[in-house]
Amino acid sequence: MEIRAAAPRRLIVAITGATGAIYGIRLLETLRRLGGVESHLLISSAGWLNIQHELQLSKEDVHPLADVVHSVRDVGASIASGSFATDGMVVAPCSMKTLASVAHGFSDNLITRAADVTLKERRRLVLLVRETPFNLAHLRNMTAVTEMGGVIFPPLPAFYNQPASVDEMVDHTVARVLDLFALGPALSRSWTGLRDAQP
Ligand SMILES: Cc1cc2nc3c(=O)[nH]c(=O)nc-3n(C[C@H](O)[C@H](O)[C@H](O)COP(=O)(O)O)c2cc1C
Repeated sequence: MEIRAAAPRRLIVAITGATGAIYGIRLLETLRRLGGVESHLLISSAGWLNIQHELQLSKEDVHPLADVVHSVRDVGASIASGSFATDGMVVAPCSMKTLASVAHGFSDNLITRAADVTLKERRRLVLLVRETPFNLAHLRNMTAVTEMGGVIFPPLPAFYNQPASVDEMVDHTVARVLDLFALGPALSRSWTGLRDAQP
């Protein structure tokens, strides 16, 4: 049997059409800053609408943030196969439509196919689901993904760390998400008790 070198660390990042495109962008920026992880980027058409509307960014701004950019239509791409090793996948933000597709194994594009592969290979899948309020279909779909081993991670801001800006709230969420992949030393500060946290 051929002995191969360890696979490089790789993370798939998908941005779909829920509000909160900044989460996916900040994730890519953080991975780039940390180094050592090959990022594979996917952006749905609705994801692009939100990137342009919320952040006024173009493809020329966003594509260089990733190591590899895939077309959502390219269901023959490397990440469509379980034989291509990755550390997992984050969908940030994740629309209710993409959540529903993942929950039902409906792999109609490369985002939902890559998520399906991540689950079948028992790799980490984290969905930053974003909608409010939730209907029963949303809640059932979140349950189904959880039952399959996925992590439902709504990007809800924390206030215990007394954030001074929206940027700090976003950074905190992104650090917590990346810590789920144990890519290196923890990015988020661990809570050591209320007494330590007093100003
Ligand atoms: C400005 C804007 C904001 C949206 N926000 C949300 C949202 O927060 N959550 C959601 O589930 N869908 C939201 N949608 C609807 C999705 O974009 C739509 O359902 C789309 O089909 C999702 O496709 P995708 O998952 O392939 O990106 C929004 C659409 C627009 C244009």
